[in-house]
Amino acid sequence: MKMKKLIAILLIIAMTFAFAACGNANDDQKGTSDAPTIYKVAMEPTFPPFDTIDEETQELAGFDVDLMNAIAADQGFELEWINMGFDGLIAALQAGNIDIIASGMNASKERREKVDFSTTYYDSALVVAVKEGNIAIKSIDDLTPDMKAGAQIGTTGAELATELFDEGKIGEAKIYNGLDVAVMDLQNGTIDALINDLPVTKDYMAAKPGTIEIVGEALNAESYGFAVKKGNTELLEKINTGMQNIIDDGTFDEIYTKWFE
Ligand code: ARG
Repeated sequence: MKMKKLIAILLIIAMTFAFAACGNANDDQKGTSDAPTIYKVAMEPTFPPFDTIDEETQELAGFDVDLMNAIAADQGFELEWINMGFDGLIAALQAGNIDIIASGMNASKERREKVDFSTTYYDSALVVAVKEGNIAIKSIDDLTPDMKAGAQIGTTGAELATELFDEGKIGEAKIYNGLDVAVMDLQNGTIDALINDLPVTKDYMAAKPGTIEIVGEALNAESYGFAVKKGNTELLEKINTGMQNIIDDGTFDEIYTKWFE
């Protein structure tokens, strides 16, 4: 009986050490014994070069992914990447189903009422694109009530397209789940114009040269930020500190060059 008790106690001690060893194996250079926190980060992946899917690995990839991964590495947390419709991102964050949005999202005043944004990391703008060789549309002012303009659901572009429709300036605002299909519809003439972010439309143009072109001036000014649930200052501070660190040590520039040059 005594012997059994002793063995049991020894077993417990051995297991405790085994678990402690596991914890240490998991934890990277931070020197704590806790396993790293895993945050859920979501994006909509038809938005290259920010948010896309790697053709070979089929994993989520892009400027947003590399940037957020670098911030996570700097701050000692881990990420689980989730593919989600753009119009579902803010609700998912508010419901606590995800922790971070990294999806080329404009840190607009309206959105700031619902979520908190990190320091912004990219300045962008909306532009109009048409099928290459379209001589009728030279700017947004040339859109007429017999025309259709497309945009992605939940985006600033969709807001503008809907506004044009409400004002009677276009015949239809066609709202797409994915920009890949919207661009295809522009190429095949299903829609006359696409309202979308400049660097992303440029990326689609480069992927299929000679099919679509950008016309007119920039329609707005926007700045992309990473979003967290309102009041999650702990995570927001980690993201902002990590962002500043990777700017200071040159990692940000490296990632920028990889995706934009
Ligand atoms: N910048 C635009 C917005 O904030 C479009 C973003 C779309 N992003 C995406 N991953 N599909 O509304």
